[in-house]
Formats: sequence, structure tokens, C-alpha cells
Amino acid sequence: MKPGPRAYGLFTSCIMTLFLFSSNSFAADIDCLKCHRKLTTGSVVHAAVSMGCTTCHTAIDAKTVPHKKSGAAARGLSAEQPDLCYGCHAKAAFEKKGVHAALAMGCTSCHNPHSSNTAKLLLSEAPGLCFTCHDKALFSKKTIHAPVAGGMCLTCHVPHASDEVALLANSPYELCLTCHGGIADKPHAVSGFSAASHPLGPKKMSKRKSKRDLSSGTTNTIMDPARSGREFYCGSCHEPHSTDSPRLFRFNAKSTMSLCGNCHKM
Ligand code: HEC
Ligand code: HEC
Ligand code: HEC
Ligand code: HEC
Ligand code: HEC
Ligand code: HEC
Ligand code: HEC
Ligand code: HEC
Ligand code: HEC
Repeated sequence: MKPGPRAYGLFTSCIMTLFLFSSNSFAADIDCLKCHRKLTTGSVVHAAVSMGCTTCHTAIDAKTVPHKKSGAAARGLSAEQPDLCYGCHAKAAFEKKGVHAALAMGCTSCHNPHSSNTAKLLLSEAPGLCFTCHDKALFSKKTIHAPVAGGMCLTCHVPHASDEVALLANSPYELCLTCHGGIADKPHAVSGFSAASHPLGPKKMSKRKSKRDLSSGTTNTIMDPARSGREFYCGSCHEPHSTDSPRLFRFNAKSTMSLCGNCHKM
């Protein structure tokens, strides 16, 4: 039987981890669960636990209580997080352009290393998990975007790392269009004004840019005039989470009219 490359990678790194970590023998024959049974009673148990407690806790002498520790790492662990976890979980998945600052606070700020009653060994489910660090008030203003009200943080965001801004699961414009596909097909934002249509994101701009900017080799994006360094897209006019304004308008704009002046001298 030949395992696929991904499975093989995990398998190999687990074996290596076991090899590296199993040099301690003093704790191997002790039944840790005799005293620590509660740690593994969650409905989801970490597969690493079946490889033995001392796979991770190499530096615990369980014959003594309180345990003597032969290493510098807390809890008799073999290595500090996140390196301990990268022993079996490919590091590359956690090292994209944008990395969640939460990772630096430890993988166990979101995961239980042993077992949990929540899928993926999470300490709790989103959005509650997210609100342990992010101020809930910012997501609870007068007008709440439907997917935010539904707690669907992970429909738009990935938890670890992403090549897109703000840990997004997709490029910002495409992300909005996955649920609002119709918006790009008809004039938007300028009904009642003289212009036939308003640019909404990179796709519409590509035509204009290619006419004007052939020499400069620009991409098919334009920049947001109100937020330096950010690309212009739906989120330049609308907040993604919640606002005190109608239509999720940015700039605290209370009407369509008061929105325009934040980018145009009118
Ligand atoms: C995948 C690695 C890993 C395995 C396998 C593992 N642990 Fe842990 N354990 C940890 C980490 C990481 C912490 C520190 C958690 C923290 O600081 O939030 C920890 C903490 C602990 C603690 C301190 C109390 C607590 O709940 O945080 C005890 C006790 C413990 N482990 C016992 C065990 C026992 C017994 C086993 C086997 C059933 C085991 N561990 C298997 C990684 C592991
Ligand atoms: C006879 C009961 C008993 C057994 C067996 C036992 N432990 Fe413990 N363990 C305890 C007690 C009591 C504590 C809390 C006191 C302490 O911190 O040492 C503890 C604490 C720990 C801690 C937390 C240490 C810290 O720094 O906070 C870890 C990790 C741990 N045990 C791992 C293990 C592992 C791994 C095994 C099996 C190899 C094991 N224990 C076997 C009773 C036991
Ligand atoms: C000794 C190897 C090993 C170590 C060390 C290890 N894991 Fe795992 N982990 C596994 C295996 C095997 C699986 C099951 C296969 C998979 O989902 O990739 C797994 C699965 C998981 C899952 C998914 C659980 C699920 O139900 O889908 C999470 C979350 C996880 N590990 C977190 C961690 C964290 C956090 C650490 C560091 C504290 C860590 N792991 C360290 C081997 C390990
Ligand atoms: C901010 C909270 C948070 C932190 C910190 C975090 N994770 Fe996760 N992790 C999650 C969430 C949420 C999921 C579930 C994703 C889903 O179901 O879409 C997850 C899923 C996983 C999985 C299952 C496979 C996958 O990618 O879906 C593994 C393995 C994992 N995390 C390992 C880690 C490791 C290792 C670290 C530390 C380097 C870590 N996590 C830090 C929130 C976190
Ligand atoms: C353990 C604390 C912690 C948890 C839990 C946590 N975060 Fe974060 N998150 C942070 C910190 C710290 C930052 C960086 C400062 C900031 O932007 O608030 C951050 C930043 C972010 C960013 C902005 C990233 C960027 O590059 O602009 C997003 C998006 C995010 N978190 C989403 C989530 C989601 C979704 C969840 C729940 C699945 C979550 N966070 C859970 C601590 C956490
Ligand atoms: C409909 C998609 C969507 C949902 C659902 C969503 N977000 Fe976001 N989030 C975004 C977008 C888009 C940005 C980037 C906005 C920008 O600056 O252009 C963002 C930015 C962020 C940031 C960076 C700071 C900020 O406010 O700009 C954090 C933190 C964050 N989101 C956390 C969360 C949490 C927690 C949840 C769940 C309660 C959540 N998000 C739900 C789309 C979403
Ligand atoms: C997971 C699906 C989903 C995604 C992704 C999504 N939306 Fe929505 N959005 C909805 C739903 C559902 C509604 C409520 C029904 C409606 O008005 O169409 C809504 C409503 C809105 C409204 C009207 C709010 C009001 O009170 O009138 C705006 C504006 C909006 N979304 C902007 C965005 C922007 C900007 C993005 C990208 C950052 C985005 N949406 C991504 C599902 C989504
Ligand atoms: C230049 C600013 C601007 C941009 C960019 C923009 N919008 Fe809007 N949007 C508006 C204005 C103004 C309204 C209110 C129109 C009205 O009430 O007649 C609106 C209304 C909406 C509504 C609610 C009413 C409706 O038409 O369904 C949704 C949903 C929405 N926008 C989504 C999006 C999405 C998705 C994008 C990106 C593809 C986007 N918007 C880009 C300004 C903008
Ligand atoms: C977040 C910033 C922003 C807001 C708010 C905004 N615009 Fe624009 N607007 C732009 C950008 C960027 C362009 C494209 C400029 C370019 O071609 O380089 C544009 C272009 C235009 C054009 C020219 C369209 C064309 O076909 O060439 C008109 C007219 C216009 N906007 C009207 C409005 C009106 C009316 C509002 C209020 C409903 C508004 N804008 C709100 C950023 C904004």
C-alpha cells in the first residue's frame, strides 16, 4: 500500500517526532491516565494522545508526585509551542503572507492539546472563540451583516494564515461576490446620479487601467482613495461586520449622499 504524499509527510514527521521524543524511558511504563483520566474524556480526542503522553511530555518523571521535570519547557514538554505542534503538523500551512497574531500566543489559546467536546479540538466554537480576544461590540452595532449575525466568521476568514489581507479565505472582491454575485451585473451605488456605473473592484477597473496605464505595468486593481495602501473594492464603501449606519456604510455615513464626499470633492 502506497500512501499519498500528504499522508506520507505527516506519517514521516510523526515517526521522526516519536523517534526524537522517545529517548526518555523512565515514564513510558506508567499509566498516566490513572491520575489524569479527565484530560481525555472529551468527545474529540487528539490522535497524538494515542501515541503516548510522553510523545509531548518528554521531560516528566511520573514516578514522583509532584513530578520532577528534567527540561526547561513548562509542563515537562519537549519543545515550546508552536514548534512542538510543528513536529507533526506541516509548518508551511501556518506561514503565509498574513499570519494570525493569535498563533504567537500559543496554539493552545484556541485548541486543547488532549481532548475537547468541540470539533477540531477547539476550546469553544466560533464566534465565541473569536470574542475571547476580539471585542464583541465591534460586531454588534445597529446594522449587523447577516453572516456576522449568524456567527459565520470562518466563512470569510481562515484561523491560521492566509495570502490575502485580513486572513480572508478569498480575495476581498471575490469573497463579496460569492454571496452577492448580482451586484456586479447592474449599476450600483450611483442610481439617482448621472454616471451609468461606479467601479466596484478590480475586474471593472481592468479595462480602464489597460487603456491608461499600459506602460507602467500596473495590475488590474485600483487603490482605495480613503485608505492608503488598500485596494479598492466593496469593502471601501461597506463595513464587513456591523455599523451604526444604514447599508453597512463606512465613514459613519448616514445616507448615500454623505458617503460620496469621503472620496470625491463634490
Ligand atoms: C500533542 C502533545 C501532547 C500530548 C500527546 C499530551 N499532552 Fe499534555 N499538554 C500538552 C500541552 C501543549 C500542554 C500545555 C497546555 C497549555 O499550556 O495550555 C499540556 C498540559 C498538560 C497538563 C497540565 C494541565 C492541563 O490540562 O493543561 C497535564 C496534566 C497533561 N498535559 C497531561 C497529559 C497526559 C496525562 C497525557 C496523555 C494522556 C498528555 N498530557 C498528552 C501537550 C500534550
Ligand atoms: C499517581 C498519580 C499520577 C500519575 C500516575 C501521573 N501524574 Fe501527572 N500529575 C499528578 C498530580 C497530582 C499533578 C499535579 C502536581 C504537579 O504539578 O506535579 C500532576 C501534574 C502533571 C503535569 C503538569 C505539570 C505542571 O508543570 O503543571 C503534567 C504535564 C503531568 N502531570 C503529566 C503526567 C504524565 C505524562 C504522566 C504519565 C507518564 C503522569 N502525569 C502520571 C499525578 C499523577
Ligand atoms: C506526535 C504527533 C503530533 C503532535 C506533536 C501534535 N499533533 Fe495534532 N494531530 C496529530 C495527528 C496524527 C492528528 C490526526 C491527523 C490530522 O488531522 O492531521 C492530529 C490532529 C490535530 C488536530 C485536528 C483534530 C480533529 O479532530 O480534526 C488539531 C486541531 C491538532 N492536531 C492540534 C495540535 C496542536 C495544537 C498541537 C501542539 C500542541 C499538536 N496538534 C501536536 C499528531 C500530532
Ligand atoms: C485563533 C484560534 C486558533 C489558533 C491560535 C490556532 N488554531 Fe488551529 N484551528 C482553529 C480553528 C477555528 C480551526 C477549525 C477550522 C475550520 O474548521 O474551518 C482550526 C483547525 C486546526 C487543525 C485542523 C486542520 C485544519 O487546518 O483545519 C489543526 C491541525 C490545527 N488547527 C492546528 C493548529 C496549530 C498547530 C496551531 C498553532 C501553530 C493552531 N492550530 C493555532 C483555530 C486556531
Ligand atoms: C487568543 C486570542 C485570539 C483569538 C482567540 C482570536 N484572535 Fe484574531 N487576532 C488576535 C490578535 C492579537 C490579533 C492582532 C491584533 C488585532 O488585529 O486585533 C488578531 C487579528 C485578527 C485579524 C486581523 C488579521 C490581519 O492581518 O489584519 C482577523 C481577521 C482575526 N484576528 C480573526 C479572528 C477570528 C475569525 C477568530 C476566531 C476564529 C479569532 N481571530 C480569534 C488574537 C486572537
Ligand atoms: C462577510 C465576510 C466576513 C465575515 C462573516 C466576518 N468578517 Fe471579519 N473581515 C472581513 C473583511 C472583508 C475584512 C477586511 C475589511 C477591510 O479592511 O477591507 C475583515 C476584517 C476583520 C478583522 C480585522 C480588523 C477589522 O475590523 O478590519 C478582524 C479582527 C475580523 N475581521 C474578525 C472577524 C470575526 C471575529 C468575525 C466573526 C464574528 C468576522 N470577522 C466575520 C469579512 C468578514
Ligand atoms: C456568506 C455570504 C455573504 C458574504 C460572503 C457576504 N455577504 Fe453581504 N449579505 C449577505 C446576506 C445573507 C445579506 C442579507 C440579505 C441581503 O440584503 O442581500 C447581506 C447583506 C449585505 C448588505 C446590505 C446590508 C443592509 O443592511 O442593507 C451589504 C451592504 C453587504 N451585504 C455587503 C457585503 C460585502 C461588502 C461583502 C464582502 C466583504 C459581503 N457582503 C459578503 C451574505 C453575504
Ligand atoms: C462606491 C461605493 C460602493 C461600492 C464600491 C459598493 N457599494 Fe454597495 N452600496 C453602495 C450604496 C450607496 C448603496 C445604497 C444604494 C441604495 O440604497 O440605493 C449600496 C447598497 C448595497 C447593498 C444593499 C442594497 C442592494 O443593492 O442589494 C448591498 C448588498 C451592497 N451594496 C453590496 C455591495 C457589494 C457586494 C459590493 C462589491 C461588489 C458593493 N456593494 C460595492 C455603495 C457602494
Ligand atoms: C471609498 C471611496 C469612494 C466612495 C465612497 C465613492 N467613490 Fe466614486 N469612485 C471611487 C474610485 C476609486 C473611482 C475610480 C477612479 C478612477 O477611475 O481611477 C470612482 C469613480 C467615480 C465616478 C466616475 C465613474 C466612471 O464611470 O468613470 C463617479 C461618477 C463616482 N465615482 C461617483 C460616486 C458617487 C455618486 C458616490 C456616492 C454614492 C461615490 N462615487 C462614492 C471611489 C469612491
